[in-house]
Amino acid sequence: MVNIGVDYYPEHWDESLWEKDAELMKTAGVKTVRIAEFAWCRIEPRENEFDFGWLDKAVKIFAERDIDVVLCTPTNCPPLWLYEKYPDSLQWTRDSKPIATGIRGHRCYNSPSLRRLSERVIVKLAEHYKDEPAVIAWQIDNELDAVHCCCPTCTEKFRNFVMSKYGSLPEVNSAYGNVVWSGEYSSETQIIPPLGSYELAWYNPAYMLDWFRFCKESVNDFVRFQADLIRSVIPDAKITTNTWLCDKTPDFHEMFKPLDFVSYDNYPQTKLPDDPEELYSHAFHLDLMRGIKRKNFWIMEQLSGVQGCWMPMLTTPKPGMIKGYSMQAIAHGADKVIHFRWRSAAKGAEMFWHGLIDQSNKPSRRFGEFTELCAEVRRLEIPENAVVNNKVAILYSSEQESALQIQPQTNGFHYYNQLKSFHDGLTALGIGCDIISEKADFSGYRVVIAPTLFITDENVSKRLHRFTEKGGVCVITNRSGVKDDNNGCIMSPLPTVYSDMTGCKVAEFDAVGRDSVKIKMGGSDYRVSQWCDILELCGAESLAEYAERFYAGLPCVTRNSFGEGICYYAGTIGERKFYKDLMKQVLSTAGIEYVDDLPQNVEITVRETNEEKFTFIFNNNGEQIGVEYCGENFILMPFECRVLKSRKG
Ligand code: GLA
Ligand code: ZN
Repeated sequence: MVNIGVDYYPEHWDESLWEKDAELMKTAGVKTVRIAEFAWCRIEPRENEFDFGWLDKAVKIFAERDIDVVLCTPTNCPPLWLYEKYPDSLQWTRDSKPIATGIRGHRCYNSPSLRRLSERVIVKLAEHYKDEPAVIAWQIDNELDAVHCCCPTCTEKFRNFVMSKYGSLPEVNSAYGNVVWSGEYSSETQIIPPLGSYELAWYNPAYMLDWFRFCKESVNDFVRFQADLIRSVIPDAKITTNTWLCDKTPDFHEMFKPLDFVSYDNYPQTKLPDDPEELYSHAFHLDLMRGIKRKNFWIMEQLSGVQGCWMPMLTTPKPGMIKGYSMQAIAHGADKVIHFRWRSAAKGAEMFWHGLIDQSNKPSRRFGEFTELCAEVRRLEIPENAVVNNKVAILYSSEQESALQIQPQTNGFHYYNQLKSFHDGLTALGIGCDIISEKADFSGYRVVIAPTLFITDENVSKRLHRFTEKGGVCVITNRSGVKDDNNGCIMSPLPTVYSDMTGCKVAEFDAVGRDSVKIKMGGSDYRVSQWCDILELCGAESLAEYAERFYAGLPCVTRNSFGEGICYYAGTIGERKFYKDLMKQVLSTAGIEYVDDLPQNVEITVRETNEEKFTFIFNNNGEQIGVEYCGENFILMPFECRVLKSRKG
């Protein structure tokens, strides 16, 4: 059954508190704890001297109370003795200096010493707990990101990565276009990470994309290495890593391949934005996480209190948020929601990051809400095989994300926002969608939305053609077909390889940035910004035209028949209403019924088994709201999630 948990740090608290904490967890209804992800210095206080006594005691305290344990490999924080003795285990900055110790996460994934010492501690840990039934899953490291380590080991590995990809220096030079600014390599030793203090934006984008790819591959390899070690001791271990959305995002689809399930650290905003156009729902991220393996996932860290420590503290979660945001995660396929953290940090680097118990050691208002959450989840009895089935998919790709991070195209543009806008348009119509890899199987979907296919993968293009030809509805957008796989421009009219599907060509574009331009679609006016593709029809019909600037009257959104299917092209980026209205047309074309009159920011999600159906109606607003759904009227309090449980058939 779906259940609720907490992140706990026995090593941070006096032992006299452990039993009391566990007892209170049990009373509250906690079923899972995650422990030990930063505890290497207590597990191995001196090189090759291990101490599991304290951890055994903590695990036992939970096991005795039927609380399951997620145990972590502690590699995020190698102890100081390790860094001191094996300095190659530290990441280097772009100034070719080792990062000063004292903060977490500064290990180099490729360092031979780090690998050797990680292997030992992981194997010891796995051997020690292999027969402990309370340990139900393993977390690798913590919030891994694709760090840009510039140490000598990484430099050499990067060089080998480039050379084995292209085979020879002339091939590298040609792929990167190195002749520009006299950057041609005449020796392999010149292939180095982007060192120095220049903004990365000044570097050659083709070279930069390979550097990002290499950094992502380094994390993937570190994850494979750890998963293999755990499985060498516990063949049927359930293994994950808790991922997040950060600056140097890993390639989620590749990173999770060797792992059993996805877990995500979920921190929804506690302050709702003043701008009603700002998309703040975390539903997008939750769908992205479910889409990685197209399976249910876990929340390994969930908002519990005031956030702050390395930054000024943020506004406290409002009444309803602790419960509502956890229910929202469950609605989108989370099977466990583990709250970060049990108690507010009172000492150390994370001082003032708040948990469910305040630093006064008194259960907080939020704790009260948390216990209600535990009770409701227990009452609902949602089986883990209750899954989300959708007919609409949005494609996400780590390649596009990196390439657009390297070259953001226009002011205000962000790859995620492009995806989120479509997601928001569908949500506004009560339609769930999966966010899946470009490389995933499209069969089973009626609509595939493919925002900004900037880098062209021929295989993806072929599969989208086939999907549409066979009767699917496809949506292609601006900045698609721009680049080849080496991040160089394709020299043919945009959207190049997709032009036959779209039945239109980009005659010219205007990168308008934050300025806004009026368009007309189906008799209504909309504001668009960032990007205006001025389209020339080659078989498609126009659905919307610009109403301003020198391109007034010319098309910006089109629809084309392709084989048995339909391909839409959206050449611009609009306000929320634009996506909602565009999605109405797309869904009608695909024969998918939608809810037309949902109040703004109300989300409807369904999880189902063969027998049961759970419909979640979530009010993601700070005000009470009335919702009419399937002929019934509901009054939802701020952030309330109402769950309707029914039997099927
Ligand atoms: C991340 C980390 C946690 C903690 C929280 C909040 O999610 O994984 O260890 O630092 O942020 O600070
Ligand atoms: Zn390194």
